[in-house]
Amino acid sequence: MTPQRRQRCRTPGTAVLVVSFLGGYCAGQAAAALRRARAVRRPPAEVRRVDGRRIVHSASDAILSIDEEAVIVFANPAAAHMFATSVANMRGSSLARFIQAPGRDTKLPLDYFPAGGGRAGRRATDYAVTGIRANGQLFPIEGSISSIEQDGRLIYTVILRDVSERHLVQQKLARSHDQLRQLSSALQTIREEERTHIARELHDDLGQLLASLRMDLTLLRQNNHLPDASGRLLDGMESNLLTAITSLRRIATNLRPRALDEGGLYFALQGLRDEFVERHGIACVLLAEEAELRLDDAASTAIFRIVQEALTNIARHAEATSVVLNLDRSDGELLVTIRDDGRGIRSEDMEKVASLGLIGMRERVWALHGEIAISADEPPGTRIDIAIPVSDHSHVEAPAS
Ligand SMILES: Nc1ncnc2c1ncn2[C@@H]1O[C@H](COP(=O)(O)OP(=O)(O)OP(=O)(O)O)[C@@H](O)[C@H]1O
Ligand SMILES: [Mg+2]
Repeated sequence: MTPQRRQRCRTPGTAVLVVSFLGGYCAGQAAAALRRARAVRRPPAEVRRVDGRRIVHSASDAILSIDEEAVIVFANPAAAHMFATSVANMRGSSLARFIQAPGRDTKLPLDYFPAGGGRAGRRATDYAVTGIRANGQLFPIEGSISSIEQDGRLIYTVILRDVSERHLVQQKLARSHDQLRQLSSALQTIREEERTHIARELHDDLGQLLASLRMDLTLLRQNNHLPDASGRLLDGMESNLLTAITSLRRIATNLRPRALDEGGLYFALQGLRDEFVERHGIACVLLAEEAELRLDDAASTAIFRIVQEALTNIARHAEATSVVLNLDRSDGELLVTIRDDGRGIRSEDMEKVASLGLIGMRERVWALHGEIAISADEPPGTRIDIAIPVSDHSHVEAPAS
């Protein structure tokens, strides 16, 4: 008999065994489940004695029961404590005495918790409402409302929590966030002013000095009576002098391109683009109109620095072969799009703790009340879209003397 046939002959016996085993197993499981269910349904004696009213009485959240006319029929001690009054005072009072009515025609309990009128709690069922303490003081509350039918009438249960402390902390956080943003913007401005100052000093003082030294050297070399050795020395000096002048120009331009102060944003971006292409061998197209980029110093500097950081990122991280810089002005807004065809930015890249480039970009845009979106592009690559309102930034400052 082939192994296959032997197996086929054995199958019915095995099936009987499996079925009877499964049957026994299932019966055992069912009995255990029944025992567990009974154990759950039959609580120990002391648990059975717990009174629902005591739970509500001792709850730390304020609990109110109100009728269909929004009259309080029950309040727990936590509610009385929250509104700085007594349970007796609350009972029989209108809910309007303790919760600010959203409108003049607020009558029904649900009107105090209008749909879409400020769900603000941790749960989807929480509403943000304003409480009124007995002394008239207003305070923020988070609450939920539900209803049950009793003797043909609806009774509403309202659970409330005083969130004054949380609001204070949130306000403090928001204030400190604002201050940090102002500080960051002030630091950027100071840094930019210092860069401008140093670049100007380098160019005007040191640059002039080197230029006049070069002229003196040229005059010296015109003297035909100099020995050959001195002539060679002068050649070397001139070559060093030229290197020094080139370095100085590069350092000054890196600090602050003169084009930004003398020509305007368009020419500064052209210089940036040319240097990027030459240094990294990545094609880069600048699509912009010079006339549309005549902006004041704050906007020009911010946009220049944003594009500069974007290009630095492309050179360092993108593995791109081409970049498009598009600056377009319409309806009082400057729309800037920077696209590359590289590996594409990942969402986790934007959360890197030690990375400050993208944060700096965002801060600069927000300081100008603009918006910025950074995303992986389709087809692969990274895309940065910026919209900045520029109506107030359109005048050109007088060129630096
Ligand atoms: N064009 C891009 N293509 C692909 N990845 C990018 C691109 N731009 C940024 N990234 C990713 O986003 C990260 C964050 O960029 P960010 O400019 O904030 O920091 P960084 O360049 O790493 O450091 P730095 O603080 O010196 O700018 C980068 O580390 C990189 O992984
Ligand atoms: Mg960077």
